[in-house]
Amino acid sequence: MPNHTLHSKMDDMNNRTVLVTGATGFLGRQVINAFEYRQWTVKGTGFSRVEGTSFLKVDLSDEGQIKKALDECKPQVVVHCAANRFPDKCDKDPEGTRAINVAAPRSLAKLCAERSILLIYISTDYVFSGKPGEAPYEADAQTGPTNLYGQTKLDGEHAVLDEFKAAGKEGLGVVLRVPVLYGPAERNEESAVNVLMDFVSKAQANGMKIKMDHWALRYPTNTEDVARVCHDVAVKYLEAQDRASLPRILQFSSEDRFTKYEICKVLGEEVMGVSIDRIKPNTEGNDPKASVQRPYDCHLSTRALRHLGIDVSTQDFVGWWRRDMRAFRH
Ligand SMILES: NC(=O)c1ccc[n+]([C@@H]2O[C@H](COP(=O)([O-])OP(=O)(O)OC[C@H]3O[C@@H](n4cnc5c(N)ncnc54)[C@H](OP(=O)(O)O)[C@@H]3O)[C@@H](O)[C@H]2O)c1
Repeated sequence: MPNHTLHSKMDDMNNRTVLVTGATGFLGRQVINAFEYRQWTVKGTGFSRVEGTSFLKVDLSDEGQIKKALDECKPQVVVHCAANRFPDKCDKDPEGTRAINVAAPRSLAKLCAERSILLIYISTDYVFSGKPGEAPYEADAQTGPTNLYGQTKLDGEHAVLDEFKAAGKEGLGVVLRVPVLYGPAERNEESAVNVLMDFVSKAQANGMKIKMDHWALRYPTNTEDVARVCHDVAVKYLEAQDRASLPRILQFSSEDRFTKYEICKVLGEEVMGVSIDRIKPNTEGNDPKASVQRPYDCHLSTRALRHLGIDVSTQDFVGWWRRDMRAFRH
């Protein structure tokens, strides 16, 4: 390769800019770290929590604000983490949820396609029904969300892929589905996994008796690992000569499988060193009258990522928590 071509390739590598939406959130913070660590210029957007940060305040339900952020930051890549991702909150505010989970990614995709920006849209395993016997799900498996959160995230996927297709820019819009996440948190309630630490502590301290789900299967995946995969996907798609032939939907998941009760047991007995005998396993499954029905098993196949040569290994669940507890104690 001639020297000047090599230099301009290296300059491109060194001048890469990513814009992360939802940078104030549980996953977004780690995505920021993963790209910063790899020497990218990193910009982030948040909404209610931007004060005291370097992130831009962008209301993603306002297309004008998205346009302004893209034109100010001029990223090559956008990682779209912002969403309403609490199933119960989605049910309480369907209209607001559709605005952020469907209309916002559509606007973002349209504007990114116009500017030839690669968009990685973070989605969820809840796009699947999770009926017993169906998992593991390949990326092209039949979807069938069981609740409004999953439906709006699936509609967001379609919106993103449709906008890139309409603009003739297929290959620049990529969906990355992930399961329930754990990792570094500002507060344990940020994560459906981290919060179980609080349940274990409360049961231990107050003698409270707690019933914990021992029916649905979960594959807790670390936000640091997801963030690293976002970076690797960005590089792979930016550098691909034949981008249009790459898959539009990717899936990443840990292979660690637990019910929530089993997570409490591991956190209590193997990490915190306390008994969980006040936490009782509940094997009843969904209450058929509940408005939010949760899937039984949405295990995601990582085959498409592996075919791209992207590392799908993950941190060890217990090992991560033991390290985190040590950091917490010091
Ligand atoms: N957490 C999980 O277990 C999990 C599992 C599967 C998939 N996912 C997906 O992963 C992504 C990230 O989830 P997360 O756990 O990081 O969520 P999160 O902690 O709740 O963060 C959500 C982010 O969205 C921003 N946001 C909300 N409404 C907004 C609006 N109108 N305009 C601009 N920004 C807005 C929030 O900003 P402020 O806080 O500053 O208002 C925050 O940064 C989501 O797409 C979610 O569907 C998450």
